[in-house]
Amino acid sequence: MAETGSLELERLGRIESEALEALAAVDSTTALEAWKVAHLGRKSSPLASALDSLGTLPKEQRPAFGKRGNEVKRALEAAFDARAEALRQAELERELTAGAFDVTQPGRPVVRGGLHPARRMLREIFAVCAEMGFQVYRSRDVESDEYNFQLLNIPPHHPARDMWSTFYIQGDERAAEGTLVLRTHTSPGQVRAMREMAPNPIRIIVPGMVYRYEQVSARKEIQFHQVEGLAVGRNIRMTDLNGTLVEFTRRIFGAERPYRLRCSHFPFTEPSVEMDIECAVCHGAGCSICGSGWLEILGAGMVHPTVLRNGGYDPNTFSGFAWGMGPERIAMLKYGITDIRDFWANDLRFLEQF
Ligand code: PHE
Repeated sequence: MAETGSLELERLGRIESEALEALAAVDSTTALEAWKVAHLGRKSSPLASALDSLGTLPKEQRPAFGKRGNEVKRALEAAFDARAEALRQAELERELTAGAFDVTQPGRPVVRGGLHPARRMLREIFAVCAEMGFQVYRSRDVESDEYNFQLLNIPPHHPARDMWSTFYIQGDERAAEGTLVLRTHTSPGQVRAMREMAPNPIRIIVPGMVYRYEQVSARKEIQFHQVEGLAVGRNIRMTDLNGTLVEFTRRIFGAERPYRLRCSHFPFTEPSVEMDIECAVCHGAGCSICGSGWLEILGAGMVHPTVLRNGGYDPNTFSGFAWGMGPERIAMLKYGITDIRDFWANDLRFLEQF
């Protein structure tokens, strides 16, 4: 019995050495594939038929035979992999010496995308605001008439609505319940944030696209970004607003760039101001881009008591300031861009300059 057992194991050993011998003679990938079929093929290889005969062996011989059979299989597979790798290397070296490859040839250029100038500007603004303690708060693009206007102290039919030519999505300017608009400014985010955070202090910016039903020109687009700023707390004063805005312009435009604050009016701030930066094109002389030598970059003011109340803050205890700035305007001033339409025209000759 033991005799037959060792005979069977010898048969496996022979299969292994014959296969390895044949493999040593293999010198091409085609021959290698043929070797694989002949010696590792599941149907007709000597190893496969040997393993198939396992069932015909006496029971006590089967474990040793099975074990050895698997060892042979693994050994042949490893030898196959090593041979394949060696052939690949040899082939590569042949091609190199034959000059089929020119390793000194420059590679194909990889096309690199870049950030859109508006996105760059936004990120720069986020960074400056973050350093001053303002967190990003996101608000929706489609707004109710209530949040876009009414809660900001602009009732239906109020003439102040003329400041924002509005895209109505549902309903109309009569502001019946259910009227939806594309937000004309990021200010509705003020009330949304206040209602979420009251009575805690707030220091946020609300960035996002705003939409206006405008005649498009070099200075006016139907869509552009705004970055709203809002600070609410105790003892917040106009001087805090002033300091924040001046520090912001110094960080974005440098300490030398002339700016000015003008009195203004917004229904949701009192008092209200606007901030102008000297025109990048004419340096204050007045030109076709700016008209007066100055370009407005933001509106701002102390949050109106009614708006504080709508947001859930008692105006006797709390105060706050807010601003709304236009990053595309800021980018135009910073980089001397003369046509706001370039931002969304998707012309690579413009976009690639940034
Ligand atoms: N929402 C105003 C606008 O779009 C700007 C603004 C924001 C003014 C906050 C004052 C305070 O013109």
